[in-house]
Amino acid sequence: VSARFQAPKGTFDILPASARRRARVESAAAGLLGRAGYGRIETPLFEDTELFESGVGQSTDIVRKEMFTFTDLGDRSVTLRPEGTAPIARAYLEHGMHTLAQPVKLWHAGPYFRYEAPQAGRFRQFNQIGAEAIGSDSPLADAELIGLLATLLRELGVPGVELRLSSLGSAEGRGDYRAELQSYLREHEGDLSRDVKERIDENPLRAFDSKDEGTRAVMAEAPVILDRLEGEDAEHFEAVRGLLDDAGIAYELDGSLVRGLDYYTRTVFAFTCDALGAQSEVGGGGRYDGLIERLGGPPTPAIGWATGIERILLATRDDEPEPSTDVFVAAADGRRESALALARELRDAGLSAELDLGGRGLKGQMKHADRIGARRAVILDEDGGCVIRDMTTGDQTEADRETVAETLREDAG
Ligand code: HAM
Repeated sequence: VSARFQAPKGTFDILPASARRRARVESAAAGLLGRAGYGRIETPLFEDTELFESGVGQSTDIVRKEMFTFTDLGDRSVTLRPEGTAPIARAYLEHGMHTLAQPVKLWHAGPYFRYEAPQAGRFRQFNQIGAEAIGSDSPLADAELIGLLATLLRELGVPGVELRLSSLGSAEGRGDYRAELQSYLREHEGDLSRDVKERIDENPLRAFDSKDEGTRAVMAEAPVILDRLEGEDAEHFEAVRGLLDDAGIAYELDGSLVRGLDYYTRTVFAFTCDALGAQSEVGGGGRYDGLIERLGGPPTPAIGWATGIERILLATRDDEPEPSTDVFVAAADGRRESALALARELRDAGLSAELDLGGRGLKGQMKHADRIGARRAVILDEDGGCVIRDMTTGDQTEADRETVAETLREDAG
């Protein structure tokens, strides 16, 4: 069928089979994060544009070219959320959560929006599950969160997962390194892409993320911050590494790991999956010790991550069978009301039950029961009879309409 409308570019419909898989991913996350004391939070799908400009950062690709921003009818600039951390930091402040026991541990799941070039595993509306621990600077928080994402991906059966780990140092500790990198980039300016050249002042670290060949060759020799960590930044990173080693969580140090959001400080990490192709990152995150302060709050260290649900689904197999119906209630014309009532009784008794909503004759109804994979059917015939049919064997037994729900429930239990 050719339709007049299609889902917008980079978006997709979630049909029931996909919805079931998504529900399983979400329920695994709810269980795991709930057992670790994380409470669910939900923030609006859109926010003040400025929240992302100051939170995520003016020099990031996300803010520069990927936001769905519009002016609402009240003349405010609002933006569909491209990520969840800045909104959660906003909510933390708005609800005075700094007065609660720290850290405040939160998780979230829902849709996010980025105007990116769509490809496998990259969409304009996609779904994330994320976790944040706000108000702790302990390396234990880093290790706990990294461990939780590792466990979640393992529980969900994501294959070939690898963890890349780095530290960006604190904002104060980063100054000298930034200057060193900037002068290195200027020395090699001729070989850099325009995009990278333009951002030497504003965001030199982004050069590590460039896909441009010339830039990549320059960056292969560039100084990395991991080799320049000092003082408490170095101690923190050592402690995180020690805790991951103790927990048996393998990782690869990767000094070129920079992430597309400006708020990161100290620990950053990414989980990749070899089953994913180009968009191989299945989840990632890091510390954002300066974000809450940047949004007008008190200095508040924090760390978190997010994982893309679509990427988890792409990386894992769909081997769950379709759910089937316990009982199909078939009825001759005069008994359709009784069928409706019986379906309700069966559902009240905890069975799944369906009936004909398409005006089929009895024969057509039995065909339909077969097609939807019903295990049993109850046939209410025109003579007032009530028969239970086993749809696999074809065996039929007489039953009493008054007690048939009870009989079916006992047989199922
Ligand atoms: P992010 O790395 O931008 O981090 O996104 C996290 C995950 O979302 C990615 O690893 C990927 O699986 C998925 N993802 C991102 N963009 C797309 C897309 N266009 N299509 C499909 N999936 C996508 C954040 O968003 C941070 N807020 C994570 C964080 C939380 N850091 C600290 N706390």
